[in-house]
Amino acid sequence: MAPPAPEPPLHVMLVCFPGQGHINPFLRLANLLASHGLRVTFTINLSTARKMKSLPSSQRRSQELKLEPNTSSSSHSGAAVHFDFFDDGHDEESIKRVPLDQLMTLLEQTGRRALPEMVRKYADQGSPVSCFVSNPFLPWVSDVAATLDIPCAVLWIQSCASFTTYYHFHNKLAEFPTPEDQERDVVLPGMPVMKHDEIPSFLHPTTPYGFLATAILGQFAHLDNVFCVLMETFERLEEEIIGHVSSFCKVRPVGPLWLGAKASVGPGDLMEADDDCIGWLDRQEPRSVVYVSMGSIVGISAQQRVEMAHGLMGSGLPFLWVVRPSHEEGEDADLGLPEGLGERGKVVRWVPQEAVLGHVAVSCFVTHCGWNSTLEAIGSGKPVVAFPQWGDQVTDAKFLGEVFRVGVRMGRGDTWTKLVTREEVERCLREVTVGPRAEEMRENAARWKREAEAAVEEGGSSERNVREFVEEVKKKSV
Ligand code: UDX
Repeated sequence: MAPPAPEPPLHVMLVCFPGQGHINPFLRLANLLASHGLRVTFTINLSTARKMKSLPSSQRRSQELKLEPNTSSSSHSGAAVHFDFFDDGHDEESIKRVPLDQLMTLLEQTGRRALPEMVRKYADQGSPVSCFVSNPFLPWVSDVAATLDIPCAVLWIQSCASFTTYYHFHNKLAEFPTPEDQERDVVLPGMPVMKHDEIPSFLHPTTPYGFLATAILGQFAHLDNVFCVLMETFERLEEEIIGHVSSFCKVRPVGPLWLGAKASVGPGDLMEADDDCIGWLDRQEPRSVVYVSMGSIVGISAQQRVEMAHGLMGSGLPFLWVVRPSHEEGEDADLGLPEGLGERGKVVRWVPQEAVLGHVAVSCFVTHCGWNSTLEAIGSGKPVVAFPQWGDQVTDAKFLGEVFRVGVRMGRGDTWTKLVTREEVERCLREVTVGPRAEEMRENAARWKREAEAAVEEGGSSERNVREFVEEVKKKSV
């Protein structure tokens, strides 16, 4: 008698928002779950998928973006990362011109139609979807999951500190700055006191980014729809805060995902990386280079670029600077950088950041403190100069400086409008590279690197949380 056909692996569908800061942790989680024997479908809108460098270029260009599943991620039969897409009616160029608030609506309209069709398709193929993982910017995914009677988790891609701050704001559980009292401190359980310019800036009454707050807070209105919040952090990093959040919400810290996920699909870069930056780093002295990057969205003003350039030159240190014109200037605008900048440093538009931060030549990281960059700095053991611009970045900067004690803060609050001078840039670079304070930050950074590695090792807190999540999905699917 023929042996019974093997059960198809559990099938988890990840639905990702089209931003680099979301794609990276989602792809990493996809790899991680596949390595635990799950079939994972990574779902995103088509016009963004066409730009993802993890997809072979012939397929990115093809009319019908149909991909062979990646099967190298796991030895389990059928377990792998697959891709699927929903058509947003745009191409790679026109999607860039859709304002963010309209993009949110477009994704919701097209995604709400497409996801049930995908779910039906997979059921017909004998690989029914057992669980959704939604994105904090796509709270409607949990509604779709509920109507299809499929369990839904969410991957929170920012810190637990930001999560609890948004949660308390949404549920009116704490006092926040108001138009009448703009400088009020915010006091939350398990957290250090936050000054008015240390809470995620979208929550401040003077913020010009109202709809972003609405988008993020949407997740909190849908929290009852998700059975668990997977969080891109690790227990030792935010112990007390995670402890408190666990009292009102099922939270599973699974990070740093970039360290835990044995990458087989990826990276999901939307931009082409400079192909000589690692070679250039190889030619520099160990622990000498300042790496500067403001992530994937933030563009600093022309005037700020000039101050940054002079500060870097004045520091006398070699530097690798990822810099692009701001959104308002347009991607082809001239950077207007001073003459002679290239003598000590290398200026590029995009780098493989994990490899750069892991390079022995890099001594410190000037960062805008996006949460991915923050965790990549922590997991690489590199001290930072924190130069936050908006959103959760200001909160991350506070934690990097005052709680994790691996960096100094450059500028305060929402720095879009405030110029940080060349002297301030130089002063911060000195503080983080020379003297006893710099030594202390290096030691702290090395300690956090060890903690991060321990969290993702077998038996570590994040590894255990991923295993328990997989078990939970298994139980829910029987
Ligand atoms: C966004 C928000 O701005 C941020 O506040 C939030 O915490 C996450 O979502 P982004 O600004 O792009 O993210 O910053 P970040 O979170 O640091 O993510 C950027 C990603 O791009 C990182 O994973 C980084 O490694 C990668 N990157 C950046 C590169 O690979 N190469 C580069 O040259 C620059």
